[in-house]
Amino acid sequence: MCGIVGIVGKQSVAPLLVDALKRLEYRGYDSAGVATLENGVLNRRRAQGKLVNLEKKLIAEPLNGFVGIGHTRWATHGVPNVENAHPHFSDNVAIVHNGIIENFRALREELEKKGYVFTSQTDTEVVAHLVASYLKEGLEPIKAAQKTFQRLEGAYALAILFKDADDMIIGARNGPPLAIGHGEGENYLGSDAIALAPFTNKITYLEDGDWCIIKKDNVEIFDFDGNPQERIAQTSASSSFLVDKGNHRHFMLKEIYEQPEVMSHTLSHYLDFGTCESHIGNDLPFDFAKIDRMAISACGTAYYAGLIAKYWFEKYARLPVDIDVASEFRYREMPLPKNGFALFISQSGETADTLASLRYCKEGGMHIGAVVNVVESTIARESDVIFRTLAGPEIGVASTKAFTCQLSVLASLAIAAGKARGVLSDEDEKRLVRELTEAPRYANAALKLEKDLEKIAHDVAKVRHILYLGRDTNFPLAMEGALKLKEISYIHAEGYPAGELKHGPIALIDEDMPVVVIAPHDSIFEKTVSNMQEVAARGGRIILITDEKGASLNSVDTEHMIVMPNMPDILTPLIYALPIQLLAYHTAVIMGTDVDQPRNLAKSVTVE
Ligand code: M6R
Repeated sequence: MCGIVGIVGKQSVAPLLVDALKRLEYRGYDSAGVATLENGVLNRRRAQGKLVNLEKKLIAEPLNGFVGIGHTRWATHGVPNVENAHPHFSDNVAIVHNGIIENFRALREELEKKGYVFTSQTDTEVVAHLVASYLKEGLEPIKAAQKTFQRLEGAYALAILFKDADDMIIGARNGPPLAIGHGEGENYLGSDAIALAPFTNKITYLEDGDWCIIKKDNVEIFDFDGNPQERIAQTSASSSFLVDKGNHRHFMLKEIYEQPEVMSHTLSHYLDFGTCESHIGNDLPFDFAKIDRMAISACGTAYYAGLIAKYWFEKYARLPVDIDVASEFRYREMPLPKNGFALFISQSGETADTLASLRYCKEGGMHIGAVVNVVESTIARESDVIFRTLAGPEIGVASTKAFTCQLSVLASLAIAAGKARGVLSDEDEKRLVRELTEAPRYANAALKLEKDLEKIAHDVAKVRHILYLGRDTNFPLAMEGALKLKEISYIHAEGYPAGELKHGPIALIDEDMPVVVIAPHDSIFEKTVSNMQEVAARGGRIILITDEKGASLNSVDTEHMIVMPNMPDILTPLIYALPIQLLAYHTAVIMGTDVDQPRNLAKSVTVE
């Protein structure tokens, strides 16, 4: 999940490459680099860490040249240092790569025997040497590149620059996305349309197995066997403006505060706020009433959204849901019901495991739906039906507004399914829709609790371990709370079903292990109170997030209590997500971590 870019232009390309890389930094920020060709000489600048380090290097040592490639890295093979930063060079070739070359060991041995000296620990460097070795054997650059692609196993989006071709970049896609941008006397390659938005909105997406020759005035696309291909150019809606933080210190906080508005946009896209009816089911390519089971697959936060949706589909539509993290689902060899419905949830729409699961279900003859935020993404393009989240660009690596928008779509979809299956009456539908339309108002109320959560964060920032507990839809939310905290504060956190604590995790409870309990006053509130009693009896410190009714009925000593307004059940996972996010955010700020770009992570995970 690196980001790659290439430009064959009519002006000095280094500043343009950096501009494109800024838009790709969400894919990784372990190192960055650019290479250009000037007067028949390949030059590169590479820097460890964020893109800003490369920018500084380019100010000190500028690069000229009208053709070039660039890369921002999320390390897979080899530590994040300058030697492992792309572009990688070999003789007359420079290469940038997103993906993993699975047979790199065998290729490396073969190339070392031929005398090639490796200067990095990456899998990518074999590609550079392989192309160079075929050039040395006398092949033309295009043939050398094509022969190289035929030797590679694994996933790749590649851009290759040749010392002896000052008007050409060769690109290839097998797995991770690669887009061609069509300009005026200038053409481009990029991991996505957003990277190319400042230059052009005319975009052609390569399909798996495609490779392409990009020249200043011409673009050619071929399939794996070298047959010319016509791929349709589209007009991309990606904006060329870089989103800014507004008055907020971090993107994450800005995105947390956007939630009332983006939830409202998303809900009103699927629900009629006037008649209180759902119109999501009107144009579906399948009938919910005829489906026996549904499969949901996703990763990370999107998976937790799916887990919450499982409760909703089963409760409101009596539709059994199988749900898996995508990295397991794709290899689980699950029998697929013909005509079944499989739903994939992804903010980026590019997550490799989710995409692979989608393709597995598609081949199995299932109807494919996707809840996605990026409408031009591969997952969106390969689905039969798209349920958009209208969250807008999410920049913070920790997902916040995308999550609550995913829940907004999934709740609307569950109601539509319940209606279609005859489980929900017209009155039930109207009541649930009316309740959902209140989400933005409750979200605003939750944001008012920020100062209280910041106070609690001072205590959380002192611990090394923490548990999150919840029941029903608040159990997946507990896992989401734990994920949010660990990814941005690096505190070890786990989410459990409250009733499961006594089966093992309770052994961890002592005065150094706070327990966040998410417990609105619902039909099983008393059960959760009993679980809190068990924690308190063992000296555990409880941070309770409940509502006014829960607060008045709670009988357990708590160290901290956050009191939310009373609200309908269907809203609790959407609205209780906000205090969970704010607690993680403030803990990370107090600890001084890089909130928007936490270590080791990337926003879009395009490797398995
Ligand atoms: O783009 P996706 O929604 O497919 O991404 C899935 C996960 O990688 C993502 O939710 C990840 O867990 C976030 N960093 C969580 O905040």
